[in-house]
Amino acid sequence: MILILNGPNLNLLGVREPDIYGSVTLHGLEERCSRWAESLGLRVESRQSNHEGDLIDWLHAAEADGADGVILNAAGLTHTSVALRDAIAAVNVPVIEVHLSNTQAREEFRQRSLIAPVCRGSIAGFGVHSYHAALLMFAADR
Ligand code: DQA
Repeated sequence: MILILNGPNLNLLGVREPDIYGSVTLHGLEERCSRWAESLGLRVESRQSNHEGDLIDWLHAAEADGADGVILNAAGLTHTSVALRDAIAAVNVPVIEVHLSNTQAREEFRQRSLIAPVCRGSIAGFGVHSYHAALLMFAADR
């Protein structure tokens, strides 16, 4: 099972700055991920939280929950959270960092990811297809 974790404000997808993040809702994104996963012979479980501690708890529990990998869009916490970085470094499950937007092409504060160095890899800038690409990578890694 691949765990998909979406962080703060991603519950507002589709409504929030659609010119940057697109018109697909969180529900639509989760449905697409399920379909893509199925076509790759994978199974996904999707969760979203606006709270840093939830994301940390889910990372700690990922292995016990049966996750073979985690796709993480840490949203704004990407650029600020030492605690989230430490949680990723602490667990054995590989984590792929994803972003809908191309964070390198945006404000300077978004160009630094505190989590990238402890992730298996990072994919940004392809909208919902960033998640699709991450699923392909987990399928290829199998
Ligand atoms: C984001 C990029 C972050 O900088 C931002 O804070 C988000 C979304 C993305 O998916 O493009 O909330 O992670």
